[in-house]
Amino acid sequence: MLLGSAIFVMCFFADLGFCQDFGYDGTIGPNFWGERYQNCGHGKLQSPIDIEETDVIVQKFPPLIFKNFDEPLESVHLKNNGHTVVVSISGGAVPSISGGPLAGTYNFSQLHFHWGKTDEEGSENLINNQSFPLELHMVMFKTDHGSFAEAANETDGLAVLSFLYIATSEDNENYEQFAEQLLLVQDVGSSVDINGFVSLDDFTTTDRNHYFTYRGSLTTPPCSEVVIWIEFKNTIKLSHNQLQEFRELSGQEGKLEHNFRPIQPLHDRVVYMNSPE
Ligand SMILES: *[C@@H]1O[C@H](CO)[C@@H](O)[C@H](O)[C@H]1NC(C)=O
Ligand SMILES: *[C@@H]1O[C@H](CO)[C@@H](O)[C@H](O)[C@H]1NC(C)=O
Ligand SMILES: *[C@@H]1O[C@H](CO)[C@@H](O)[C@H](O)[C@H]1NC(C)=O
Ligand SMILES: [Zn+2]
Repeated sequence: MLLGSAIFVMCFFADLGFCQDFGYDGTIGPNFWGERYQNCGHGKLQSPIDIEETDVIVQKFPPLIFKNFDEPLESVHLKNNGHTVVVSISGGAVPSISGGPLAGTYNFSQLHFHWGKTDEEGSENLINNQSFPLELHMVMFKTDHGSFAEAANETDGLAVLSFLYIATSEDNENYEQFAEQLLLVQDVGSSVDINGFVSLDDFTTTDRNHYFTYRGSLTTPPCSEVVIWIEFKNTIKLSHNQLQEFRELSGQEGKLEHNFRPIQPLHDRVVYMNSPE
């Protein structure tokens, strides 16, 4: 019991790099996460999912309000934690979001990515059973709960803004700097501090009026069912070369070539689609 909770606490802060007990292959792969983490194996609100457009309920939510998304990020910390690359901030204007399906304001905590071995796969959520080469998760916590750690234990505590990418031949200019910075964190545990970074608006240039939203979980252990997912329907373009930079990062065992969890059963859940029309 004590051991269990110690592991829980350590792995709860997986993004800080303490926890190396899960992976994406073999006996530490997604099929085995449930042995240590109840929710991963037995939860009924697990993520990711396949979003079938023919099954969604179309609804017109209030507009999403993005605050400080137009400000260049300051005091940025980029880290390879062995599972993904994480972008967090320790100063400057904190981006936040409210409106849409959210009751309250959610502040930026960190963003990270999921990808695959080739451009044919890599996203966690699927749309109409289609996979995308990369998915960005912008993790936001509800400010009412005071901190990320407290919010991560509440059913409405986190909102993940999720963006999908498609592969193109031309580089995305907004990612030129980031692609270079990825080279600096290829080793597990390595990190770099950056003062000048693009704004979140520039990092996620796509239409943000069309999105899917559903109740789900963290897609890594402990798979807590605390996430309001906002999955944008329109994609961000990234070149094949820029996508390849992610696959050059090292994981715990060689190159971190893929880090997406397979889709989970929808069970009784409903997926809503915001359509402003
Ligand atoms: C979804 O795609 C997978 C892999 O391409 C395929 O095996 C499966 O049959 C598809 N499912 C549906 C419902 O189309
Ligand atoms: C959320 O961010 C705002 C700035 O946008 C800041 O004033 C506020 O203190 C933050 N709240 C929490 C709980 O971190
Ligand atoms: C909050 O934490 C407790 C103790 O770890 C856990 O049993 C409970 O499931 C958590 N609640 C949520 C919503 O994750
Ligand atoms: Zn994620």
